[in-house]
Amino acid sequence: MTTADNVSSIAILGAGQMGGGIAQVAAVAGIDAVCFDMHQTSLDKTKALHEKLMARAVEKGRMEQGDADAALARISYTTDWDAMGGAGWVVEAAAEKEALKHELFTRLAETFDDESVVLATNTSSISSTRIAAAAERARAGAGERVIGMHFFNPVPVMKLVEVIKGLATSDEVTQRTIDLSVRMGKEPHAANDRAGFVSNRVLMPMINEAFYAWMEGVAEPEDLDAIMTKGMAHPMGPLRLADFIGLDTCAMIMDVLADGLNDDRYRACPLLKQRVDAGRLGNKTGRGVFDYSK
Ligand code: 3HC
Repeated sequence: MTTADNVSSIAILGAGQMGGGIAQVAAVAGIDAVCFDMHQTSLDKTKALHEKLMARAVEKGRMEQGDADAALARISYTTDWDAMGGAGWVVEAAAEKEALKHELFTRLAETFDDESVVLATNTSSISSTRIAAAAERARAGAGERVIGMHFFNPVPVMKLVEVIKGLATSDEVTQRTIDLSVRMGKEPHAANDRAGFVSNRVLMPMINEAFYAWMEGVAEPEDLDAIMTKGMAHPMGPLRLADFIGLDTCAMIMDVLADGLNDDRYRACPLLKQRVDAGRLGNKTGRGVFDYSK
């Protein structure tokens, strides 16, 4: 039986900013990380970021060179789905799209027949119960091993893991997820499986409201953000944070809230949607609310 304490290898699906961060913290905790992505360019970008962040950790005296080299050597990057097969734990960190997550968990349940392998999802807002049901349909019993393991960006810095037990998730899998989060240097907290859980139920409407305030001319983005950073001691204003998270992700989370909570007050602000339509997704595309091209 694999327990959180003896998991030696984690497969991470999706090498974006979240998946890349999860791989990094796993490797630093002494666990092999297999980064899977369909796109070689994403893997190359993530690998370069890992090298840069590890070099910075050494430069800052937070890590010995030998430990940084060993952590980097624990991470592999692949476009081959089967290369994940030997992992003892899976964290899916694909885009916040329900149909995509269902498709991936169908395939994961088929690939990982070992009942001790936990199939975790870094869902930001989508129901872990419904994702588990997709796995259960593919393989009887697989739903018990599906759980929400929600990390925060930037993963190497943020302490929280929000743990979301689905209706079918076993207590043993929940405890192992808590234990593994601690082993990865995180502080896990439980939330129930309602749209957005705690984090995005509270955070995303604030971000969305900032877009409405901007749209209504209450303040320009710089002033709006400055008021929230200086007055509320937030490390970033809500508009800069939206750029940092990705405006597409913010809009997708608002859609999940509007749909799941069936309330118009969660409707994504037209200004947010317009930027997504224009492909101005924030830091990752060089432009969102603010311009990062320089
Ligand atoms: N990866 C790893 N480390 C990073 C990093 C990254 N992407 N970005 C910054 N850091 C590290 C830096 O290396 C630096 O450490 P060092 O100086 O010792 O090397 C440290 O964080 C501070 O960075 P900076 O000095 O460059 O900048 P700041 O002091 O402004 O901090 C920040 C940057 C940590 C991002 C801070 O602005 C912050 O906490 N912002 C809020 C982040 C937040 O709210 N995240 C949650 C988003 S919601 C989410 O993820 C859920 C999802 O479902 C939407």
